[in-house]
Amino acid sequence: MEKQLETIKTAAKSEIESAISRQVLEALRVKYLGKKGELTSILKQMGSLSPKERPIMGALANEVRGFIGDILDEKMKLLAKDEQIEKLKSEAIDVTIPGNTKKLGSLHPLTVVLDEVKEIFLGMGFQIATGPEVEWDYYNFEALNIPKDHPARDTQDTFYITENMLLRTQTSPVQIRVMENTKPPIRIIAPGRVYRADTVDATHSPLFHQVEGLVVDKGISMSVLKGSLMQFAKRLYGNDTKIRLRPHHFPFTEPSCEMDVSCFICGGKGCSMCKNEGWIEILGAGMVHPKVLENGGIDPNIYSGYAFGVGLERLTLFKYSINDLRLFFENDLRFLSQF
Ligand code: DAH
Repeated sequence: MEKQLETIKTAAKSEIESAISRQVLEALRVKYLGKKGELTSILKQMGSLSPKERPIMGALANEVRGFIGDILDEKMKLLAKDEQIEKLKSEAIDVTIPGNTKKLGSLHPLTVVLDEVKEIFLGMGFQIATGPEVEWDYYNFEALNIPKDHPARDTQDTFYITENMLLRTQTSPVQIRVMENTKPPIRIIAPGRVYRADTVDATHSPLFHQVEGLVVDKGISMSVLKGSLMQFAKRLYGNDTKIRLRPHHFPFTEPSCEMDVSCFICGGKGCSMCKNEGWIEILGAGMVHPKVLENGGIDPNIYSGYAFGVGLERLTLFKYSINDLRLFFENDLRFLSQF
């Protein structure tokens, strides 16, 4: 039995020493020290020994068990360390390799300015409304006091889907849609795309953007209009900006006006931006025509309102001193990445 124990000890030692992984070591632990392992099967034979031999063999077997257990643990530690070193090596990061950066896009200049316009009006208590781009003739013209034969239609030719359905030429139809669905007080802006049968050049595009404004309440007067639009101009173009209202005509407002802002390049002295006028026209506005209020289901004897419409491309051209509107639609990164 002593010999058997000696053989087990030597075999275990050499096997453990040459083990190459922790899994192999675990298997060896089972093989030698496990319940059905080699050492256990020897211990089972102890019964056949004489009472004298028994304690001696018992001590020897225990020593072999201790020995095998010790070298197993030691080897286990060694392998774990090796594995860690291997892992660290394989996961090492070379911080000197140039990074893989993702290029971030930027907002389109029209979006930048629209966000600013929204921010200004939201701050004044306005809400944002929308309407369809494919619109009924009724909302785009008729309800806005522009009947079939009205000359105002000439400057707003558009793409007709049917005789009564068209691509909207202005955001003003949203005025009617909002009035139909909302009781005053109304305070909205309606940004969106509009379409006209215009040929592309530096200042025209068959598709462009407008922001409509509509306020309906009791006691709304021209001075409310002026105060709000002055606030808008100052916030957008700077606190020194002055405004002036010039009489104009729109079928859906009475009285109507156009609003100019003092040139933000020359401050009003005259330069190429303002064509030496010192003023730049930025929007149309007026007091909502009583007929238009009525078409929206609102009693003009109780309520009054003001409205305005502003071209987003125009605002943006001026804001960034851009001289050609086509740049907005060409998707040229050399232009777009400047914003
Ligand atoms: N819809 C007009 C246009 O496209 C702009 C406009 C002018 C809108 C006066 C208004 C307004 O609401 O009151 O030319």
